[in-house]
Amino acid sequence: MSQFSFAGNPAKTVEIAWTRPVWSKLSSGYKDLDAAKSRMKDARKLYIKSFGCQMNVYDSRRMADTLAPEGYAETEAADDADLIILNTCHIREKAAEKVYSELGRMRRLKAAAGAAGRRVTIAVAGCVAQAEGEEIVRRAPAVDLVFGPQSYHRLPDLLARAARDGKAVDTEFPPDDKFDHLAAPTSAAIRARGVAAFVTVQEGCDKFCTFCVVPYTRGAEVSRPVGKIVAEIERLADAGVREITLIGQNVNAYHGAGPDGRPRSLAALLERVSRIGGIERLRYTTSHPRDMDDALIAAHRELPKLMPQLHLPVQSGSDRILAAMNRRHTRADYLDIVARLRAVRPDLALTSDFIVGFPGESEGDFADTLSLVREVGFSGAFSFKYSPRPGTPGAALQEQIDEEIKSERLQRLQAEIDRGQAAFNGSCLGRTFDVLFEKTGRHAGQLVGRSPYLQPVQVTAPAALLGRIASVTITEAASNSLFGALAGAGEPALAGAGA
Ligand code: 5AD
Ligand code: SF4
Repeated sequence: MSQFSFAGNPAKTVEIAWTRPVWSKLSSGYKDLDAAKSRMKDARKLYIKSFGCQMNVYDSRRMADTLAPEGYAETEAADDADLIILNTCHIREKAAEKVYSELGRMRRLKAAAGAAGRRVTIAVAGCVAQAEGEEIVRRAPAVDLVFGPQSYHRLPDLLARAARDGKAVDTEFPPDDKFDHLAAPTSAAIRARGVAAFVTVQEGCDKFCTFCVVPYTRGAEVSRPVGKIVAEIERLADAGVREITLIGQNVNAYHGAGPDGRPRSLAALLERVSRIGGIERLRYTTSHPRDMDDALIAAHRELPKLMPQLHLPVQSGSDRILAAMNRRHTRADYLDIVARLRAVRPDLALTSDFIVGFPGESEGDFADTLSLVREVGFSGAFSFKYSPRPGTPGAALQEQIDEEIKSERLQRLQAEIDRGQAAFNGSCLGRTFDVLFEKTGRHAGQLVGRSPYLQPVQVTAPAALLGRIASVTITEAASNSLFGALAGAGEPALAGAGA
């Protein structure tokens, strides 16, 4: 698999590894200080591991925020935790299997803690929980609590139920909006999480691509109202966040209510968010080609804060396979969208997702995918072997492709994608662009930031530039990242407000 990283990385397992003070949250959450103090004494430890996409990372953070007033402080060490939550991904079989192997490890931790007289609660959240429900408790009896993506706001109640009844399973799609009930992060928590933040604006999907479980595990498309998103981003900006990525399973189908109650498009939402003070950079992911409307394409010209990078999954270059996948766009449609985007933003870097070995895919169909990769010139892409998911139409198709053929095609596709990525990175050599510095690098005196095209850039720079945007000239391009020097003779050209 191509080793680059961009928002919406569906293949990465992300451990939510940050520790933050919960005391300010605790003390504001309880009226009386004595009660707060007694809660502090028995503060419990929470370990959350997030699998899959950025939406799970966002959800994990909101779960942690919701549990903070209950006295849970986060820990990076699973063996230290009183509550372990695995926030799972069901998109491919391998992703789901990873959860069960992780549960084996957690069962042993729970047994060891039990032997030492300490009770550990194990919870499974996310799409595997939604898809498999009770089955998880049958297969992994150490699990105490199973709950789907629409139940996160009920977490305190669910924990109480599991403690009382031994087990609790909740995979309902309740009619109320979970975002109304999830706690907001404290300023300290926001700062600890860095200057680039994700905000979920839309969930679920109505597209029903025939390979995909998302419409079943995440349900129908729902968009959050503009006002609530703006309020959340204002809070993030106040605490020092400079870059926002609006996320959703099908983010460009966004149609949340504006102040007058009428639906707004993603283009309108981006325009509104771009006016929030302190926010310097905007991105959105993941998009469907059918929802790339004229206004959204124009936004790439009209909104200077909208970064010149777009993740636009195509899945296949063959019209026959696109039709079998129920993508409802052709190869020509996709190329036309790319041309229109590049007409308004010539330096736009495009990334994508591909599936090889969808049922019925011939060598000719696969050749069409390879030629599409060459024709578009992606700056990177994820590629996957087709994984039949129970309950999806693709799984019932006759002409399933042999595993060896899938593996061989995947290798060839990845080589083509890697060539494109190397060419894109190479084209950045000698160029000067803004980098938002997000963290310290591996070596002393080094900072790591993101280019407008989302490549990681390593630069020797003063720590004072952390959280700030500075102009950088690219001096070296590796396959997965860039190296650069601050532009100007040692005088950093600062742009944007500092944290
Ligand atoms: N098999 C393989 N890849 C899949 N994806 C989604 N479902 C499957 C599946 N059943 C890939 C698609 C999607 C990305 C998030 O995961 O490429 O865009
Ligand atoms: Fe899945 Fe297709 Fe919806 Fe994307 S658009 S989430 S691939 S059904």
